[in-house]
Amino acid sequence: MSRARGALCRACLALAAALAALLLLPLPPPLSRAPVPAPTRAPAPTRAPTPDPGPRAPPARPAASPLLRPDDVFIAVKTTRKNHGPRLGLLLRTWISRARRQAVSPQTFIFTDGDDPELQLQGGSHVVNTNCSAVHTRQALCCKMSVEYDKFIESGRKWFCHVDDDNYVNSEGLLQLLATFSPSQDVYLGRPSLDHPIEATERVQEGGTVTTVKFWFATGGAGFCLSRGLALKMSPWASLGSFMSTAERVRLPDDCTVGYIVEGLLGARLLHSSLFHSHLENLQRLPPNSVLQQVTLSYGGPENPQNVVNVAGGFSREQDPTRFKSIHCLLYPDTDWCPARKQDDLASR
Ligand SMILES: *[C@@H]1O[C@H](CO)[C@@H](O)[C@H](O)[C@H]1NC(C)=O
Repeated sequence: MSRARGALCRACLALAAALAALLLLPLPPPLSRAPVPAPTRAPAPTRAPTPDPGPRAPPARPAASPLLRPDDVFIAVKTTRKNHGPRLGLLLRTWISRARRQAVSPQTFIFTDGDDPELQLQGGSHVVNTNCSAVHTRQALCCKMSVEYDKFIESGRKWFCHVDDDNYVNSEGLLQLLATFSPSQDVYLGRPSLDHPIEATERVQEGGTVTTVKFWFATGGAGFCLSRGLALKMSPWASLGSFMSTAERVRLPDDCTVGYIVEGLLGARLLHSSLFHSHLENLQRLPPNSVLQQVTLSYGGPENPQNVVNVAGGFSREQDPTRFKSIHCLLYPDTDWCPARKQDDLASR
C-alpha cells in the first residue's frame, strides 16, 4: 500500500516535473528578462514626498554637479610668514603650481600674516596678507579663518576648502569628491579629529545662562570643505569679523568654531571623510596603493620625521623627507623636475 502510494507519488512527481518543464521551456531564463518592453512597464509611480530626513541625514547624492571646474573651488592655504621658505615653497613647487606654468593655480589662495614681495610677485592677488597676528593663538587663527571666509564669499565660487601649509592637496581627487555633491546643499566635509563629538559651553552674556552643545568638527590640519550654500547660511556668525566673536563666545579654536556654527547653530552635519589626512594621524598606516586616491595628505615634520606616507618613487627619503615630491611625480609625471619614469618603477607599483 505504502509502496504503491510511493510509486504513484514518484509518477506524479515525474509528471509534474515534465509539465513544469513544458510550461517553463518557452519562457526566457529569468536573467534575459531584464529589458522589459516599454509598454508593459507600469508608469513610474509618482514619488510620495520623501519624509523629512532631519538634520542628521546626509545630503541626497543624486543632485551632483558633474561639470565642476577647478576654479569653482576656492582652496585657502593657511600659512605664516616664517613658513614661506621651505614649507610653503614645497607646496608652490608641487600641488599649488600643478603641472602648469603658473606659480599659483587659479583655485588656490594663500593666507599669510606678513608681507613677502617675492611671494606677492609670484601669486599676485592669490596671496593675501590677512594682517592677523603671527602668534599661534586662538584669536590669531580665528582671524585668518575669518579673512579666508570673507574672501571666499567675495569670490562667488561654489566650494570653500581650507588646508594648512603642511598639506598636499590632490586637486583631481578633490574635484571628483566635490562633484558628487551639490554646492547649494548643506555640505561640510572633512575628518573628525576625535572619535566622539565635542561638547562646549555657550555663555549668553546678558542672562548669564550656560548651555552645553555637542557637535562634530573637521580637524583643520587635515583640510575640510564647505559648500557655498552652507557657507552663506553661516554668514551671521562668520562674516566680516563675526567669526572671531563666535569663537570667543565658545572659547574654541578656528576649526572647532566652524563645526560649532555648522552643527551646533545651523543643525547641519559633518560628513565624515577618511580621504583627508593630518599630521596627527599615523600616516605610515595608509596602504601604499591607496595614497594617490586620497584628497589631502600631510607629514610629521621635524618633531616626528618618521610620520610620512609610504610611497615609492623617484626620490629617496633624504631627497624628499615629506614624500610630497614623490607623490607629485606619481600624479603628474610630466612635471619638468620629475625623474624620468623607468619601466621597472612602473612594474613595481
Ligand atoms: C592688510 O593691510 C593692508 C595695508 O593696510 C591692506 O591694504 C589690506 O587690505 C589688509 N588686508 C586685509 C585682508 O584686510
